[in-house]
Amino acid sequence: ALLQRGPDATLRMILRKPSHERTPEELELIFEELLHITALSHLSTSIKRELSSIIVFESHAQAGTILFNQGDEGRSWYILLKGSVDVVIHGKGTVATLKNGDDFGKLALINDAPRAATIVLKENNCHLLRVDKEHFNRILRDVEANTLRLQEHGKDVLVLERVAKQRGQHSAFKYTVMSGTPSKILEHLLETRLGNQVSSLDPFLDDFLLTNMVFMPVIQLVDELANYFHCDVNDAAQTPEDREYIINFKKRVIQFMHKWVLVARHTALDEPCVCDFIEEMALEVEANPELSEETSNIHNLLTQKARYQEDRKQNSAQKWKLPPNGQPVCLFSGNTTSSRNTMHPDDDIIFRVYCADHTYCTLRFPLHTTAEIIKACAAEKLQLNRGAEDLVLVEVKSNGERAVFKDNDVSIPTGLSLNGRLFVTVKDHVDAVTPLPEQEGPTEGIDIDLEILSTKDLAFYITIYDWDLFWVVHEYELLYRTFGRHHFGKITANLDVFLRRFNELQYWIVTDIVSASSMSKRVGLLRKFIKLAAYCKEYNNLNAFFAIVMGLSNMAVSRLTQTWDKIPSKFRKLFQEFEALIDPSRNHRAYRVYVGKLQPPLIPFMPLLLKDMTFAHEGNKTSLDGLVNFEKMHMMAQTMRTMRYCRSRTISLDPPSPKSEGDARSYICCLRSIDNQRVLTAMSQKLEPTRK
Ligand code: CMP
Repeated sequence: ALLQRGPDATLRMILRKPSHERTPEELELIFEELLHITALSHLSTSIKRELSSIIVFESHAQAGTILFNQGDEGRSWYILLKGSVDVVIHGKGTVATLKNGDDFGKLALINDAPRAATIVLKENNCHLLRVDKEHFNRILRDVEANTLRLQEHGKDVLVLERVAKQRGQHSAFKYTVMSGTPSKILEHLLETRLGNQVSSLDPFLDDFLLTNMVFMPVIQLVDELANYFHCDVNDAAQTPEDREYIINFKKRVIQFMHKWVLVARHTALDEPCVCDFIEEMALEVEANPELSEETSNIHNLLTQKARYQEDRKQNSAQKWKLPPNGQPVCLFSGNTTSSRNTMHPDDDIIFRVYCADHTYCTLRFPLHTTAEIIKACAAEKLQLNRGAEDLVLVEVKSNGERAVFKDNDVSIPTGLSLNGRLFVTVKDHVDAVTPLPEQEGPTEGIDIDLEILSTKDLAFYITIYDWDLFWVVHEYELLYRTFGRHHFGKITANLDVFLRRFNELQYWIVTDIVSASSMSKRVGLLRKFIKLAAYCKEYNNLNAFFAIVMGLSNMAVSRLTQTWDKIPSKFRKLFQEFEALIDPSRNHRAYRVYVGKLQPPLIPFMPLLLKDMTFAHEGNKTSLDGLVNFEKMHMMAQTMRTMRYCRSRTISLDPPSPKSEGDARSYICCLRSIDNQRVLTAMSQKLEPTRK
């Protein structure tokens, strides 16, 4: 009855009384009316009884009345009984019209955020029920519906879900974004997670900053931010409330940019549109005293930008060389041995491309060059008189496997497998391409006896080397790699090189052991490598630890039973412990428990982080009914944060004894590895033939 006619005069009178004046009979009357309201239908009877005593009636005579403004503090929740209201958002106008039976004003209460929209009465004589914040918090907050959907023009634009507060995780927000349109997610973020409500425990902002490129290209993000920032330009007639709201929003945009650059670092400053926008904001902050609070953020942004641009000018387009074997090395940068530089998209890399007859050409290209261009240039240099559409660029691995590159793929040379080579060939003849003989054999390296090098020194230099490689990998590279870097046109060179190193270490162990023809030498090596693994573990270098233990568990090594029998049982037991730690069962539980207790700095087992990323990617859709599946973004951001955590303190190890013999440092920079399992197993067979 309430919904059709509006409450009758008696009921209205009762609903206007303060709660302590309502008699039991009156409360019963209200309660019965509440049973008919759909907005309350999910609530229990006892809750409705509680509401009966505090719910208030409110009516407004004039269409056009503003009930509250976007940006206001949220004080009440409303149910519309009669009439209709417009939901109006700055810069968008009316996004929805609500009719009798609809409710609104909940968002600000559950998020402790400012009003996300202005509510304007659309008709004369509107009737509303109101629940004020204190009562809402006491009675409704904990029994609220699990899902909250916001619509614009009849379509869902944001879906929030209640999260059970997890133990030890005292998030101030009980609702998290499950999905939404990119723009609405950004709007919600600026309204609820910047300004004064910042909570370092709430991951929403960080999730967004780590994953936005998946659903929103940088250009679009900057464009939307600029629209928010300049929204007052065309709007001459502003009320003081509007003005306050606009200034407030400008501040949020500046804060957002500040946080973004902290997370994205050079990947943001590499984008001209980002730098231009920082300049624009700086000009306005300087000219507008209302924004003076943001001076230090702007100053900080400008400093970072200037520092970065200066740095790029000095080290502009570095040159890297991909030696036939081993890691790309930076040419012409003063310091090649320690402290590596980040590889940038416009850095040049020098590498070889072979053709089917094993002749080759040497090319030099920026890392962001596409496979298509490399292919065309190599074909020309190698005089393969074929059209580009007949040719493919392909990696040939040492075991003969071939992988064809997509035309739009980038950072090709760094992505090759350990002893893989790049070939250009006619499309129909890919299967006929064979590896070069040099891909099979032990490649060049320093030919000294490992025995004279101190194991601890080796572990030390391995760790320093790995740390330098790990340090320059951007969290974003995990995303690019998981989704396919060609989707973003972004290089993954630093991550590629780090993963290559993992394989290099692993196969170096195997190669070294199966290359030792004397039994006593092999026994010595096994002992040395087990010790090496132990030192790497001590140094928190779990990546190298895994590589070494996996190398020792490789079939070609583990089958050498006569050799294993001769090492002291103390070592064998230690090795068994190590094997238990790398055991992949129960999703690498042993390892996860172990690293969970470590403090940074640490170098994680990188392939597992990639596996977690892939798992999140393949198990979850990126888009749900046209909305970004933000839960997936959160999962991926969690893994990216792990990586950040590992590096949250820089490494400082005591350098090894200066008196140690040999040069462990140059040795570990240039390891010899065969990565063809068939060859390794054959070598192992020769050492200890299988008894028939
Ligand atoms: P609140 O932010 O408290 O105040 C404005 C209300 O408008 C908001 O809660 C929602 O209940 C309601 N609303 C309806 N549609 C939208 C929308 N698309 N965006 C924001 N708020 C909306």
